[in-house]
Amino acid sequence: MKTKISILTGAGVSAESGLGTYRDNGGLWDQYDPMEVASIDGWRKNPGKVLDFYNMQREKLRAVSPNAAHRAIAALEERADVQVITQNVDNLHERAGSTRVLHLHGETTKVRPDQGLYDINFSEDEVFDIGYEAVRLGDMAPNGNQLRPHIVFFGEAVPKMERAIEQVQQADIVLIVGSSLQVYPAAGLYRYARNTARIFLIDPAEVPVRDPRITHIREKATRGMEIFTEEIFKL
Ligand code: OAD
Repeated sequence: MKTKISILTGAGVSAESGLGTYRDNGGLWDQYDPMEVASIDGWRKNPGKVLDFYNMQREKLRAVSPNAAHRAIAALEERADVQVITQNVDNLHERAGSTRVLHLHGETTKVRPDQGLYDINFSEDEVFDIGYEAVRLGDMAPNGNQLRPHIVFFGEAVPKMERAIEQVQQADIVLIVGSSLQVYPAAGLYRYARNTARIFLIDPAEVPVRDPRITHIREKATRGMEIFTEEIFKL
């Protein structure tokens, strides 16, 4: 049977593609207040500002490409049973060839109708891909509601969390790449790993985790993935 690997990625895996992270110096949340542009309260107060922010993110995403770390993660599918669980809202894992990608925090290129107070009850059938197009106030979904970004805003539940937990519980190896592990519940996912699972973390910075099961490869994602595939995950 193939080794099961759950790969938990954050903004750091896309940093070398030219997408800034959120919390590093000069990161996105230094430039924008997440409570204004990425929270449910921000959306209710000023949806136009939120739409503009994600229109800009779509433009940025259009201009970048997957890097060697995304490609190395995709290539692991030839040797292992790989499930990517990403906090990223970009589509670089898919563009690199990964076929099993679970987006915990939504996707920049997707939208769905705003459901007011009942937003958490959206159906996957109503979510659709608009590519890199802009969305404006007044752009309506087929059901007549305003379109909103298919993003898990701060203050909203994470609908795919249970599926992600199940994947991590089954993994032989959990590999975390480029996340500050500050945003819950995603940050706590690795803790669902079995006691016998091996856990690796690729991040150039100190990450505040004290789990003795974790081996920290203190490198950028591209170099860290080389080390993982060539030195650790040898077959
Ligand atoms: P953060 O910006 O919080 O953390 C990025 C991590 O990437 C840090 O630990 C960096 O040290 C690391 N890093 C930087 N450059 C790197 C590189 N070249 N290779 C590898 N690692 C590198 O981003 P996340 O942890 O992903 O949510 O943030 C989690 C969530 O917070 C995001 O999904 C987003 C944000 O608010 C939403 O927007 C819903």
